[in-house]
Amino acid sequence: MKATERITIFDTTLRDGEQSPGCSMNLEEKVRFARQLEKLGVDVIEAGFPISSDGDFAAVEAVAAACRGTTVAALCRTTEQDVRRAWQALRHAARPRLHTFVATSDIHLEYKLKKTRREVLEMTRDAVRLARSLTQDVEFSAEDATRSDPDFLCEVLRVAIAEGARTLNIPDTVGYATPTEFAQLIRMVRERVTGDSKSVTISVHCHNDLGLAVANSLAAIEAGARQVECTVNGIGERAGNAALEEVVMAMHVRADCLPFACGVRTTEIHPASQLLSEIIGCGVQPNKAIVGRNAFAHEAGIHQHGVLSNPLCYEIMTPASVGAPSNHLVLGKHSGRHALSRRYAELGYLLLPAEVNEVYRRFTDLADRKKRVYDQDLLALLAAETRAVVAEDASDDAARAFECVGA
Ligand code: KIV
Ligand code: ZN
Repeated sequence: MKATERITIFDTTLRDGEQSPGCSMNLEEKVRFARQLEKLGVDVIEAGFPISSDGDFAAVEAVAAACRGTTVAALCRTTEQDVRRAWQALRHAARPRLHTFVATSDIHLEYKLKKTRREVLEMTRDAVRLARSLTQDVEFSAEDATRSDPDFLCEVLRVAIAEGARTLNIPDTVGYATPTEFAQLIRMVRERVTGDSKSVTISVHCHNDLGLAVANSLAAIEAGARQVECTVNGIGERAGNAALEEVVMAMHVRADCLPFACGVRTTEIHPASQLLSEIIGCGVQPNKAIVGRNAFAHEAGIHQHGVLSNPLCYEIMTPASVGAPSNHLVLGKHSGRHALSRRYAELGYLLLPAEVNEVYRRFTDLADRKKRVYDQDLLALLAAETRAVVAEDASDDAARAFECVGA
């Protein structure tokens, strides 16, 4: 097996994430979330885009003051005013990083920047040079890299390195790349720009327009990228950014084929996800990988039986490993007798096999009519003739009682 290599986790929830509709945060909320990111163990917190507003400026300053153990980054375009404003916000940070970017694709040059390629090369040179005169840690991003002419992209990246950028970020700004193609682009940058230099880190920043942000990030790591930019819950512009929890848990659970390590404490993933949802007032979809409400929930009878016997039957990681409450069996029309009996036992009723059969019949009738069956429904289903025994320690006994019932 290959030696484990370290991946830098660059969290941009407070910058790219916050740019998504309905996800804005005030200063106090940003600081609260940044503290959770420190607990989570990310390496870099991108706290904002200081030139964009006074609020963003103040938030970057406050995060830099609060988070002394983590690198704090601020975003800026490649203009002198932007770079100086970002540095102003970061100047008291314990570990500041200036992150400057310019678009390199022809479509952005022509329609957005209205600049020639030569001008973009000059802007890159001047901005990285200025940033390096202010701090050691400078990251350069070639916006829309995946739609850029590869020769021009390499030329711009070479200028950024020559001026002292330590991290070269290759964004898939519009979420257009496929994993094979993106990995090929990263290999090309290694071959033509960075070589095997240990002093320059290749970073990736993937958007999720085709639902490929995490797959592209992982493909890039395999191709030599050593920093991944991501957000908690995958929030971000349009369809969002690569979800931090998915990238990290893919490396954690599939360490056999992804031999990479990072500093994230996985048990802080669920708390971070919950805190973010609470702050922005917007949760994740129920089936969201790792942090969705249903990520560790089971309704189908066969699955419930399997999970009750051994959670590994249907779970590739434990809820505890991501700091989530224990798995739960949802009672609905697909549930079986095992889960029903277990729930009654948890409620204090130890049913005999014949009683389980009887109540199960009534349960399935109800579940056909109702999406979810709640505890009060179960109690109502216990008819007078059902001889329910209040168990002293029902949950222990339930499994034994059930052995005679079958699935
Ligand atoms: O998506 C993007 O290209 C960005 C850059 C500013 C890194 O967010
Ligand atoms: Zn982005």
